[in-house]
Amino acid sequence: MKVLVTGGAGFIGANFVHTTVQTMPDAEVTVLDKLTYAGNKNSIAGLERVKLVQGDVADYDTVEPLVGEADVVVHFAAESHNDNSLKGPWPFIKSNIVGTFTLLEAVRKHGTRLHHISTDEVYGDLKIGEKRKFKPGDPYIPSSPYSASKASSDHLVRAWVRSFGIAATISNCSNNYGPYQHIEKFIPRTVTNLMDGIRPRIYGTGEQIRDWIHVLDHNTAVWDIINRGRIGETYLIGANGELSNLQVTKMILEEFGLDPNDFEHVNDRPGHDQRYAIDNTKLVEELGWHPHYTDFRDGLRQTIKWYRDNEAWWRAQKEEVEARYRANGQ
Ligand code: NAD
Ligand code: TYD
Repeated sequence: MKVLVTGGAGFIGANFVHTTVQTMPDAEVTVLDKLTYAGNKNSIAGLERVKLVQGDVADYDTVEPLVGEADVVVHFAAESHNDNSLKGPWPFIKSNIVGTFTLLEAVRKHGTRLHHISTDEVYGDLKIGEKRKFKPGDPYIPSSPYSASKASSDHLVRAWVRSFGIAATISNCSNNYGPYQHIEKFIPRTVTNLMDGIRPRIYGTGEQIRDWIHVLDHNTAVWDIINRGRIGETYLIGANGELSNLQVTKMILEEFGLDPNDFEHVNDRPGHDQRYAIDNTKLVEELGWHPHYTDFRDGLRQTIKWYRDNEAWWRAQKEEVEARYRANGQ
Protein backbone atom coordinates (compact mmCIF):
# COMPACT_ATOMS: atom_id res chain seq x y z
CA MET A 1 0.00 0.00 0.00
CA LYS A 2 1.34 3.43 -0.94
CA VAL A 3 0.52 6.00 1.73
CA LEU A 4 0.95 9.74 1.22
CA VAL A 5 1.23 11.51 4.58
CA THR A 6 1.05 15.30 4.45
CA GLY A 7 2.65 16.98 7.48
CA GLY A 8 4.49 13.75 8.30
CA ALA A 9 7.45 15.61 9.80
CA GLY A 10 5.21 17.21 12.45
CA PHE A 11 4.16 15.80 15.80
CA ILE A 12 1.20 13.55 15.03
CA GLY A 13 2.20 12.84 11.43
CA ALA A 14 5.70 11.65 12.43
CA ASN A 15 4.25 9.32 15.04
CA PHE A 16 1.82 8.06 12.37
CA VAL A 17 4.70 7.36 9.97
CA HIS A 18 6.61 5.43 12.66
CA THR A 19 3.60 3.26 13.53
CA THR A 20 2.73 2.66 9.88
CA VAL A 21 6.14 1.31 8.87
CA GLN A 22 6.41 -0.70 12.11
CA THR A 23 3.02 -2.38 11.80
CA MET A 24 2.52 -2.61 8.01
CA PRO A 25 5.41 -4.42 6.33
CA ASP A 26 3.94 -3.74 2.88
CA ALA A 27 3.45 0.00 3.38
CA GLU A 28 5.52 2.52 1.47
CA VAL A 29 5.20 6.02 2.86
CA THR A 30 5.78 9.31 1.11
CA VAL A 31 5.81 12.32 3.41
CA LEU A 32 4.95 15.69 1.90
CA ASP A 33 6.01 18.37 4.36
CA LYS A 34 6.93 22.02 3.97
CA LEU A 35 9.29 21.70 6.95
CA THR A 36 8.03 24.87 8.58
CA TYR A 37 9.39 25.76 12.04
CA ALA A 38 7.08 22.94 13.30
CA GLY A 39 8.39 20.25 10.95
CA ASN A 40 11.55 18.35 11.81
CA LYS A 41 13.04 15.87 9.39
CA ASN A 42 14.93 14.21 12.24
CA SER A 43 11.58 12.97 13.56
CA ILE A 44 11.40 10.50 10.66
CA ALA A 45 15.10 10.14 9.81
CA GLY A 46 16.46 6.67 9.10
CA LEU A 47 13.07 4.99 8.69
CA GLU A 48 12.91 2.34 6.00
CA ARG A 49 10.26 2.61 3.26
CA VAL A 50 9.80 6.34 3.99
CA LYS A 51 10.55 9.07 1.45
CA LEU A 52 10.43 12.76 2.38
CA VAL A 53 9.41 15.35 -0.21
CA GLN A 54 9.83 18.92 0.98
CA GLY A 55 6.98 20.96 -0.47
CA ASP A 56 3.83 22.94 0.17
CA VAL A 57 0.45 21.23 0.24
CA ALA A 58 -0.97 24.43 -1.27
CA ASP A 59 1.17 23.96 -4.40
CA TYR A 60 -0.88 21.93 -6.91
CA ASP A 61 2.08 21.04 -9.15
CA THR A 62 3.83 19.40 -6.19
CA VAL A 63 0.75 17.73 -4.75
CA GLU A 64 -0.94 16.35 -7.88
CA PRO A 65 1.68 13.75 -8.96
CA LEU A 66 2.17 12.56 -5.38
CA VAL A 67 -1.58 12.01 -4.96
CA GLY A 68 -1.57 10.22 -8.33
CA GLU A 69 0.96 7.67 -7.04
CA ALA A 70 -0.79 7.03 -3.71
CA ASP A 71 -3.44 4.48 -2.65
CA VAL A 72 -4.43 6.58 0.35
CA VAL A 73 -3.70 10.16 1.47
CA VAL A 74 -3.63 11.03 5.18
CA HIS A 75 -3.77 14.79 5.56
CA PHE A 76 -2.10 16.09 8.73
CA ALA A 77 -0.34 19.15 7.27
CA ALA A 78 -1.48 22.35 8.94
CA GLU A 79 -0.42 25.32 10.97
CA SER A 80 -1.45 24.05 14.37
CA HIS A 81 -0.76 26.51 17.21
CA ASN A 82 -3.56 28.76 18.46
CA ASP A 83 -1.20 31.35 19.96
CA ASN A 84 0.56 31.79 16.59
CA SER A 85 -2.78 32.17 14.82
CA LEU A 86 -3.59 35.12 17.09
CA LYS A 87 -0.32 36.84 16.14
CA GLY A 88 -0.48 36.11 12.39
CA PRO A 89 -3.47 34.32 10.86
CA TRP A 90 -2.39 34.31 7.20
CA PRO A 91 -0.26 31.11 7.22
CA PHE A 92 -3.28 29.36 8.76
CA ILE A 93 -5.55 30.47 5.93
CA LYS A 94 -2.97 29.50 3.32
CA SER A 95 -1.88 26.09 4.64
CA ASN A 96 -5.08 24.92 6.29
CA ILE A 97 -7.71 26.21 3.86
CA VAL A 98 -5.94 26.70 0.52
CA GLY A 99 -3.76 23.65 1.28
CA THR A 100 -6.77 21.41 1.86
CA PHE A 101 -8.53 22.81 -1.22
CA THR A 102 -5.43 22.04 -3.33
CA LEU A 103 -5.21 18.50 -2.01
CA LEU A 104 -8.92 17.95 -2.63
CA GLU A 105 -8.54 18.96 -6.25
CA ALA A 106 -5.75 16.42 -6.71
CA VAL A 107 -7.80 13.74 -4.93
CA ARG A 108 -10.75 14.55 -7.18
CA LYS A 109 -8.59 14.19 -10.30
CA HIS A 110 -7.14 10.80 -9.29
CA GLY A 111 -10.01 9.29 -7.25
CA THR A 112 -7.61 8.62 -4.36
CA ARG A 113 -8.93 7.70 -0.87
CA LEU A 114 -8.43 10.61 1.58
CA HIS A 115 -8.53 10.84 5.34
CA HIS A 116 -8.62 14.39 6.67
CA ILE A 117 -7.25 15.04 10.17
CA SER A 118 -9.04 17.72 12.13
CA THR A 119 -9.59 18.95 15.65
CA ASP A 120 -12.40 19.11 18.21
CA GLU A 121 -11.74 22.87 18.36
CA VAL A 122 -14.05 23.34 15.35
CA TYR A 123 -16.94 22.93 17.83
CA GLY A 124 -15.86 25.94 19.89
CA ASP A 125 -15.79 25.27 23.61
CA LEU A 126 -17.89 23.84 26.43
CA LYS A 127 -18.49 25.30 29.86
CA ILE A 128 -16.44 24.18 32.84
CA GLY A 129 -18.79 22.25 35.12
CA GLU A 130 -21.31 21.16 32.46
CA LYS A 131 -21.52 17.44 31.58
CA ARG A 132 -22.05 17.84 27.83
CA LYS A 133 -19.39 16.61 25.41
CA PHE A 134 -18.84 17.29 21.70
CA LYS A 135 -20.81 14.90 19.47
CA PRO A 136 -20.79 14.32 15.69
CA GLY A 137 -23.26 16.74 14.12
CA ASP A 138 -22.77 19.50 16.71
CA PRO A 139 -22.64 23.00 15.20
CA TYR A 140 -19.30 24.42 14.17
CA ILE A 141 -18.53 27.50 16.33
CA PRO A 142 -14.75 27.94 16.14
CA SER A 143 -13.16 30.59 18.38
CA SER A 144 -9.68 31.28 17.00
CA PRO A 145 -8.18 31.81 13.55
CA TYR A 146 -6.65 28.33 13.92
CA SER A 147 -9.91 26.57 14.72
CA ALA A 148 -11.80 28.61 12.10
CA SER A 149 -9.28 27.55 9.45
CA LYS A 150 -9.66 23.89 10.45
CA ALA A 151 -13.45 24.25 10.41
CA SER A 152 -13.20 25.67 6.88
CA SER A 153 -11.08 22.74 5.77
CA ASP A 154 -13.64 20.26 7.15
CA HIS A 155 -16.42 22.04 5.24
CA LEU A 156 -14.40 21.80 2.03
CA VAL A 157 -13.86 18.05 2.48
CA ARG A 158 -17.58 17.45 3.11
CA ALA A 159 -18.52 19.54 0.07
CA TRP A 160 -16.09 17.62 -2.16
CA VAL A 161 -17.63 14.34 -0.97
CA ARG A 162 -21.15 15.52 -1.67
CA SER A 163 -20.56 17.47 -4.87
CA PHE A 164 -17.80 15.45 -6.53
CA GLY A 165 -18.14 12.05 -4.87
CA ILE A 166 -14.57 11.85 -3.57
CA ALA A 167 -13.85 9.00 -1.11
CA ALA A 168 -13.00 10.87 2.08
CA THR A 169 -13.45 10.54 5.84
CA ILE A 170 -12.83 13.14 8.56
CA SER A 171 -11.73 12.80 12.17
CA ASN A 172 -11.82 15.46 14.87
CA CYS A 173 -9.51 14.64 17.76
CA SER A 174 -8.90 16.19 21.16
CA ASN A 175 -5.53 17.40 22.55
CA ASN A 176 -2.67 14.99 21.86
CA TYR A 177 0.45 14.42 23.93
CA GLY A 178 3.50 12.22 23.43
CA PRO A 179 6.93 12.20 21.76
CA TYR A 180 7.96 14.62 18.97
CA GLN A 181 5.51 17.38 19.99
CA HIS A 182 6.87 20.87 19.38
CA ILE A 183 8.05 22.60 22.57
CA GLU A 184 5.75 25.58 22.00
CA LYS A 185 2.81 23.37 23.09
CA PHE A 186 1.68 23.19 26.72
CA ILE A 187 3.03 19.83 27.94
CA PRO A 188 6.42 19.84 26.16
CA ARG A 189 6.90 23.52 27.01
CA THR A 190 6.28 22.85 30.68
CA VAL A 191 8.53 19.76 30.71
CA THR A 192 11.45 21.46 28.93
CA ASN A 193 11.03 24.58 31.08
CA LEU A 194 11.44 22.45 34.19
CA MET A 195 14.51 20.80 32.67
CA ASP A 196 15.90 24.35 32.33
CA GLY A 197 14.89 25.40 35.85
CA ILE A 198 12.05 27.65 34.60
CA ARG A 199 8.77 27.55 36.52
CA PRO A 200 5.71 26.37 34.53
CA ARG A 201 3.58 29.16 33.02
CA ILE A 202 -0.17 28.86 33.40
CA TYR A 203 -2.39 31.05 31.22
CA GLY A 204 -4.98 32.87 33.32
CA THR A 205 -6.56 30.82 36.09
CA GLY A 206 -5.50 27.42 34.69
CA GLU A 207 -9.00 26.05 35.24
CA GLN A 208 -9.45 25.43 31.51
CA ILE A 209 -9.96 21.77 30.64
CA ARG A 210 -8.44 19.78 27.81
CA ASP A 211 -9.34 16.16 26.91
CA TRP A 212 -5.91 14.52 26.62
CA ILE A 213 -5.21 11.54 24.36
CA HIS A 214 -1.89 9.84 23.69
CA VAL A 215 -0.78 10.44 20.10
CA LEU A 216 -0.44 6.70 19.42
CA ASP A 217 -4.08 6.17 20.40
CA HIS A 218 -5.10 8.95 17.99
CA ASN A 219 -3.22 7.19 15.23
CA THR A 220 -4.71 3.71 15.81
CA ALA A 221 -8.11 5.37 15.49
CA VAL A 222 -7.03 6.98 12.21
CA TRP A 223 -6.06 3.59 10.75
CA ASP A 224 -9.35 2.08 11.96
CA ILE A 225 -11.24 4.85 10.16
CA ILE A 226 -9.21 4.41 6.97
CA ASN A 227 -9.76 0.65 7.02
CA ARG A 228 -13.33 0.40 8.25
CA GLY A 229 -14.86 3.89 8.36
CA ARG A 230 -17.79 4.78 6.13
CA ILE A 231 -17.01 7.20 3.29
CA GLY A 232 -18.29 10.70 3.95
CA GLU A 233 -18.51 10.14 7.71
CA THR A 234 -16.96 12.14 10.52
CA TYR A 235 -15.56 10.36 13.59
CA LEU A 236 -14.69 12.06 16.86
CA ILE A 237 -11.54 10.72 18.52
CA GLY A 238 -11.04 11.07 22.28
CA ALA A 239 -10.08 8.89 25.23
CA ASN A 240 -12.04 10.42 28.14
CA GLY A 241 -8.95 12.26 29.39
CA GLU A 242 -10.38 15.50 30.77
CA LEU A 243 -7.95 17.40 33.02
CA SER A 244 -7.52 21.07 33.86
CA ASN A 245 -4.28 22.84 32.98
CA LEU A 246 -3.64 23.21 36.72
CA GLN A 247 -3.98 19.45 37.25
CA VAL A 248 -1.60 18.67 34.38
CA THR A 249 0.96 21.22 35.58
CA LYS A 250 0.86 19.83 39.11
CA MET A 251 1.35 16.27 37.84
CA ILE A 252 4.39 17.32 35.79
CA LEU A 253 5.88 19.13 38.81
CA GLU A 254 5.31 15.99 40.90
CA GLU A 255 7.03 13.84 38.27
CA PHE A 256 10.04 16.15 38.58
CA GLY A 257 9.94 15.74 42.39
CA LEU A 258 9.10 19.43 42.82
CA ASP A 259 6.49 21.35 44.83
CA PRO A 260 3.22 20.99 42.83
CA ASN A 261 2.40 24.64 43.53
CA ASP A 262 5.65 26.03 42.17
CA PHE A 263 4.23 27.59 38.98
CA GLU A 264 3.41 31.11 37.73
CA HIS A 265 0.18 32.53 36.35
CA VAL A 266 0.85 34.56 33.18
CA ASN A 267 -1.22 36.54 30.67
CA ASP A 268 -4.28 34.65 29.51
CA ARG A 269 -4.83 33.75 25.84
CA PRO A 270 -7.38 36.11 24.20
CA GLY A 271 -10.60 34.20 23.52
CA HIS A 272 -9.24 31.21 25.51
CA ASP A 273 -11.49 28.15 25.00
CA GLN A 274 -12.67 26.92 28.39
CA ARG A 275 -13.28 23.21 27.98
CA TYR A 276 -13.02 20.52 25.32
CA ALA A 277 -14.51 17.03 25.76
CA ILE A 278 -15.18 14.30 23.21
CA ASP A 279 -18.04 11.80 23.13
CA ASN A 280 -16.30 8.89 21.36
CA THR A 281 -19.35 6.56 21.26
CA LYS A 282 -19.55 6.42 17.45
CA LEU A 283 -15.90 5.46 17.05
CA VAL A 284 -16.04 2.85 19.81
CA GLU A 285 -19.39 1.30 18.86
CA GLU A 286 -19.05 1.41 15.08
CA LEU A 287 -15.37 0.59 14.65
CA GLY A 288 -14.52 -1.15 17.93
CA TRP A 289 -11.64 1.23 18.67
CA HIS A 290 -10.24 1.42 22.20
CA PRO A 291 -7.41 3.53 23.59
CA HIS A 292 -4.33 1.76 24.92
CA TYR A 293 -2.90 4.62 27.01
CA THR A 294 -5.67 4.90 29.58
CA ASP A 295 -3.39 5.94 32.48
CA PHE A 296 -2.52 9.58 31.82
CA ARG A 297 0.14 9.77 34.53
CA ASP A 298 1.93 6.79 33.04
CA GLY A 299 1.79 8.25 29.51
CA LEU A 300 2.98 11.58 30.88
CA ARG A 301 5.91 9.90 32.66
CA GLN A 302 6.98 8.19 29.40
CA THR A 303 6.65 11.51 27.56
CA ILE A 304 8.79 13.33 30.13
CA LYS A 305 11.41 10.59 29.77
CA TRP A 306 11.34 11.03 26.00
CA TYR A 307 12.10 14.77 26.30
CA ARG A 308 14.89 14.03 28.80
CA ASP A 309 16.40 11.39 26.49
CA ASN A 310 16.04 13.45 23.32
CA GLU A 311 17.29 16.90 24.26
CA ALA A 312 19.16 17.15 20.93
CA TRP A 313 15.79 16.96 19.14
CA TRP A 314 14.40 20.13 20.79
CA ARG A 315 17.26 22.13 22.31
CA ALA A 316 18.01 24.38 19.31
CA GLN A 317 14.48 25.84 19.39
CA LYS A 318 14.13 26.47 23.11
CA GLU A 319 15.59 29.96 23.38
CA GLU A 320 13.58 31.38 20.49
CA VAL A 321 10.31 29.82 21.65
CA GLU A 322 10.70 31.24 25.16
CA ALA A 323 11.73 34.67 23.80
CA ARG A 324 8.48 34.74 21.81
CA TYR A 325 6.42 33.84 24.86
CA ARG A 326 8.28 36.38 27.02
CA ALA A 327 7.48 39.15 24.53
CA ASN A 328 3.81 38.18 25.00
CA GLY A 329 3.94 38.24 28.79
CA GLN A 330 3.61 34.46 28.83
P1 NAD B 1 2.50 20.18 13.95
O1 NAD B 1 2.48 21.66 13.90
O2 NAD B 1 3.40 19.48 14.92
O3 NAD B 1 2.88 19.60 12.50
C1 NAD B 1 2.37 20.14 11.32
C2 NAD B 1 3.26 19.69 10.16
O4 NAD B 1 2.69 20.19 8.95
C3 NAD B 1 4.68 20.22 10.25
O5 NAD B 1 5.60 19.21 9.95
C4 NAD B 1 4.72 21.32 9.18
O6 NAD B 1 6.01 21.50 8.61
C5 NAD B 1 3.72 20.78 8.18
N1 NAD B 1 3.12 21.84 7.35
C6 NAD B 1 2.56 23.02 7.78
N2 NAD B 1 2.12 23.72 6.71
C7 NAD B 1 2.38 22.96 5.62
C8 NAD B 1 2.14 23.14 4.23
N3 NAD B 1 1.57 24.27 3.76
N4 NAD B 1 2.52 22.18 3.37
C9 NAD B 1 3.11 21.03 3.83
N5 NAD B 1 3.38 20.82 5.13
C10 NAD B 1 3.01 21.77 6.01
O7 NAD B 1 1.00 19.74 14.14
P2 NAD B 1 0.37 18.43 14.80
O8 NAD B 1 0.13 18.71 16.23
O9 NAD B 1 1.17 17.25 14.40
O10 NAD B 1 -1.04 18.41 14.08
C11 NAD B 1 -1.24 17.65 12.89
C12 NAD B 1 -2.69 17.75 12.47
O11 NAD B 1 -3.52 17.27 13.52
C13 NAD B 1 -3.16 19.17 12.19
O12 NAD B 1 -4.02 19.12 11.08
C14 NAD B 1 -3.92 19.57 13.45
O13 NAD B 1 -4.93 20.50 13.16
C15 NAD B 1 -4.49 18.23 13.85
N6 NAD B 1 -4.79 18.05 15.29
C16 NAD B 1 -3.81 18.29 16.23
C17 NAD B 1 -4.09 18.06 17.57
C18 NAD B 1 -3.02 18.26 18.65
O14 NAD B 1 -3.33 18.13 19.84
N7 NAD B 1 -1.76 18.54 18.30
C19 NAD B 1 -5.35 17.63 17.96
C20 NAD B 1 -6.33 17.40 16.97
C21 NAD B 1 -6.01 17.61 15.65
P1 TYD C 1 -1.90 24.20 23.70
O1 TYD C 1 -0.88 23.13 23.91
O2 TYD C 1 -1.48 25.44 22.99
O3 TYD C 1 -3.12 23.48 22.95
P2 TYD C 1 -4.62 24.04 22.58
O4 TYD C 1 -4.58 25.50 22.47
O5 TYD C 1 -4.85 23.39 21.24
O6 TYD C 1 -5.53 23.50 23.63
O7 TYD C 1 -2.51 24.62 25.10
C1 TYD C 1 -3.18 23.70 25.94
C2 TYD C 1 -3.76 24.47 27.11
O8 TYD C 1 -2.69 24.95 27.93
C3 TYD C 1 -4.53 25.72 26.70
O9 TYD C 1 -5.64 25.87 27.58
C4 TYD C 1 -3.53 26.86 26.89
C5 TYD C 1 -2.71 26.39 28.06
N1 TYD C 1 -1.28 26.79 28.15
C6 TYD C 1 -0.77 27.24 29.37
O10 TYD C 1 -1.50 27.38 30.37
N2 TYD C 1 0.55 27.55 29.46
C7 TYD C 1 1.40 27.42 28.39
O11 TYD C 1 2.61 27.68 28.53
C8 TYD C 1 0.86 26.97 27.13
C9 TYD C 1 1.74 26.84 25.92
C10 TYD C 1 -0.50 26.65 27.05
